[in-house]
Amino acid sequence: MRQLSTIAGLRDFTRDAPRPLGLVPTMGALHAGHLALVAAARAECASVVATIFVNPTQFGPAEDLARYPRPLAEDLAALEAAGVAAAFVPSVEEMFPAGAATTIHMDGPALPLEGEARPGHFDGVATVVAKLLLEVGPDRAYFGQKDGQQLAVVRRLAADLDMPVTIVAVPTVREADGLAVSSRNAYLSAEQREAAPVLYRALAATRDRFRAGAQARAELEAGCRALLAQQPLFDAVDYVAAVDPDTMEPWAGAGPAMLAAAVRMGDVRLIDNVLME
Ligand code: PAF
Repeated sequence: MRQLSTIAGLRDFTRDAPRPLGLVPTMGALHAGHLALVAAARAECASVVATIFVNPTQFGPAEDLARYPRPLAEDLAALEAAGVAAAFVPSVEEMFPAGAATTIHMDGPALPLEGEARPGHFDGVATVVAKLLLEVGPDRAYFGQKDGQQLAVVRRLAADLDMPVTIVAVPTVREADGLAVSSRNAYLSAEQREAAPVLYRALAATRDRFRAGAQARAELEAGCRALLAQQPLFDAVDYVAAVDPDTMEPWAGAGPAMLAAAVRMGDVRLIDNVLME
């Protein structure tokens, strides 16, 4: 596996890389969810570039960028073992040199839910993802369904900027008890960790009701919220929303829906979603 840190070196590499070329963008601290993205990319692409970049522009002022884990040696070993052809690990200066003045502002799917809770977050995501797509020039790029709103934002971004790339959604990887695998899980105390799967259980139980015929959005959302309220270690439920998976607008009662929720346990905020089709 090649390790690259400059955009020029990356372009030299991708010029001759066998196609189709897959991109797996990450912020490192890799877990089974990231490795599922790599596995999906390896299954469909002749070569795969993974990126590790803790993007400062997607962190809010109250979010601890400095605390974000950066186990680079382990991450590189995991990517190499997973069969990635090149890891692009740029510095902040390489990605955002002094004088950089361009930010992509996203409306539409970036506005509700996480967009309300984390103002500016999706502008930071969209800007860095656009740069990575332009730098790597992949045929396919892989994102987790776990961050369902990010997926919708990236799809909209690629469509709006006429980027010749297929955005591929990879199903959420879950622990045996249903908790979605996430780097944030490491911040949970043992007691919080035990309580956390209630988030998925509430979403899955609501999806079961949907499949059994309950199709009134407000009633589904209220039912899910009531299940979450039963877990005393959830300090707050930021939102429970059944939305159109592409637009993030409230589900209109026809077609597929994404049921998304965010809960807070102390300092840790967990998000998860299920698709209801
Ligand atoms: O999902 C992530 O890890 C990040 O938001 C991404 C897509 C790598 C952009 O920094």
